Amino acid sequence: MAVNIGIDVGGTGIKGAAVGEDGTLSHRSERVTPAQDVDAISGAIADLIREIASAAEREGQQVDAVGVACAGFIDSAGGTVLFAPNLAWRDAPLKARLEASVGRPIFLENDANAAAWGEFRFGGAREADDMLLVTIGTGVGGGIVSDGELLRGSEGVAAEIGHLRVMPEGVRCGCGNRGCLESYASGTALVREARELVSGGSPHAGALSDLCGGDPQSLTGQMVTQAATAGDPAATELFADLGRWLGEGIASMVAILDPELIVIGGGVSEAGDLLLGPTEVAFARQLTGRGHRRQADIVLAVLGNDAGMIGAADLAARRAGATGAPV
Ligand code: BGC
Ligand code: NA
Ligand code: ZN
Repeated sequence: MAVNIGIDVGGTGIKGAAVGEDGTLSHRSERVTPAQDVDAISGAIADLIREIASAAEREGQQVDAVGVACAGFIDSAGGTVLFAPNLAWRDAPLKARLEASVGRPIFLENDANAAAWGEFRFGGAREADDMLLVTIGTGVGGGIVSDGELLRGSEGVAAEIGHLRVMPEGVRCGCGNRGCLESYASGTALVREARELVSGGSPHAGALSDLCGGDPQSLTGQMVTQAATAGDPAATELFADLGRWLGEGIASMVAILDPELIVIGGGVSEAGDLLLGPTEVAFARQLTGRGHRRQADIVLAVLGNDAGMIGAADLAARRAGATGAPV
């Protein structure tokens, strides 16, 4: 059996697996992202690729192509990470570095584009021709499938929904600007708000404070999800705030794209209805022409946090086939 390797490099973790032609995963493994050290990031990615490739080959699987989804701006040639708001990449020739180190052709893609492709091919958007995917993790990512094709733009960096400006003079974003959607609707924003609540000593923040042992700096996104899932009103409100920003941001995107379906992925989407409920309410309130047009459904990624790996592997296989790799 032949497999392709899919790697998903996020602001927090690097995940990888061998992906079968039907989108099923095996030989999963991961690393922590050494976010501020470019050499260490490519070292960790290369290491993970080698580990998964040898595990697959030991079982007699042939590894055809390797796709690496990155939380940053990939140039249209697929060779360079031009910029990454939450990682140290600046004009980083990642493809060449990885190929030199693992000795296999590597295909780079933006992480949210890869996740959109994964959901479009194997997940909740299989029946759609036009879809928007938004990932909520360390950052906020976007992927657009338009007429059955990934929308890349002129330079390869389209669909950066996380950097829509939603608040003039707002909170500073990792991209350097102020008031981006990512500054309000990411996992990073969720944790920032939760920490503020705990350090303010609000009586409202009791459950969150207990979870982090009274130390706001050790509060994580998972803890906020855990508290909200257990019914804590403060944590639930934090998700409601995030969902409002997200729903309004999606309404702006829908004004341009008119997708059939909007899919929400990324680690924070594991909160499920706690996030989806308020997102839908805000979207319905902000949708231009509401009442006179169909309101697109907003759904959770069926592939969850695996969508990026699956999409990266499938895109790599297609490109390897299309270009007659090695490239
Ligand atoms: C980056 C995107 C990325 C997203 C999710 C954003 O900050 O600009 O390129 O897709 O985070 O990782
Ligand atoms: Na994208
Ligand atoms: Zn930004």
